[in-house]
Amino acid sequence: MSGAQESAAKLPAHIAIIMDGNGRWAQARGLPRTAGHRAGADAVRAVVRECRRLGIPHLTLYAFSSENWNRPKTEISALFGLLLEFLGAEVATMVEQGIRLQVLGDLDGLPLAQRTALRHAMNRTADGKDMTLNLALNYGGRAELVRAARALAAEVAAGGLAPEAITETALADRLDTAGQPDPDLLIRTSGEQRLSNFLLYQCAYSELWFTPVLWPDFGAEELAKALNDYAGRSRRFGKTREQADGC
Ligand code: FPP
Repeated sequence: MSGAQESAAKLPAHIAIIMDGNGRWAQARGLPRTAGHRAGADAVRAVVRECRRLGIPHLTLYAFSSENWNRPKTEISALFGLLLEFLGAEVATMVEQGIRLQVLGDLDGLPLAQRTALRHAMNRTADGKDMTLNLALNYGGRAELVRAARALAAEVAAGGLAPEAITETALADRLDTAGQPDPDLLIRTSGEQRLSNFLLYQCAYSELWFTPVLWPDFGAEELAKALNDYAGRSRRFGKTREQADGC
């Protein structure tokens, strides 16, 4: 039995991953950056499969940030090409496996082909009950908070919401992750240790796990390490260690 299976009782309900290091992976092999992204897309498939197998109900992958538009045009179009390939190849399996696809971020800002394919994939997988796969695309945590604030303000202005009714829950209900639990575990690969504008509200109490492994090399084995580490942590949510451990 693997370590992760042994600690099944303490599996996170939601894992969020900042997939980093595709470029360095390619560079180390003398390959173009796009080859790193292609290998990264294979790692996405492997990690989705493993999370589904382990019974992790929510997985969020940071696939394209609002800042990634600053990359060279060729790299952006390669990334969006890989997204179309991924959707084309995986949607049927996702339906079969009960995986629901959701997008976090500003879908309307994506190119038409990707927007259409994502809408189609979300419709086809909408009944998936076993796992939700969130792809963060054209996503920025601050922009998401601004959109939620605007939604609340519009409701107040229309008279449908009292300012006192703006609670943490009311705000969370207007985020792209509405209805989903906050990430229990946030993983970032490639040795970088920062949030990069990812799920700023939702990660308030997430456990953070960093690995030097580059994203294309991340798979079931490295995920098991993260899960084992997570299983051994005492989550306190502001309580004392004794209270948190139920002593
Ligand atoms: C960061 O590596 C990775 C990205 C900006 C994109 C993530 C995309 C994928 C994993 C592939 C496509 C995704 C799907 C869902 C099919 P980096 O390029 O910043 O690496 P570096 O820091 O080493 O340069």
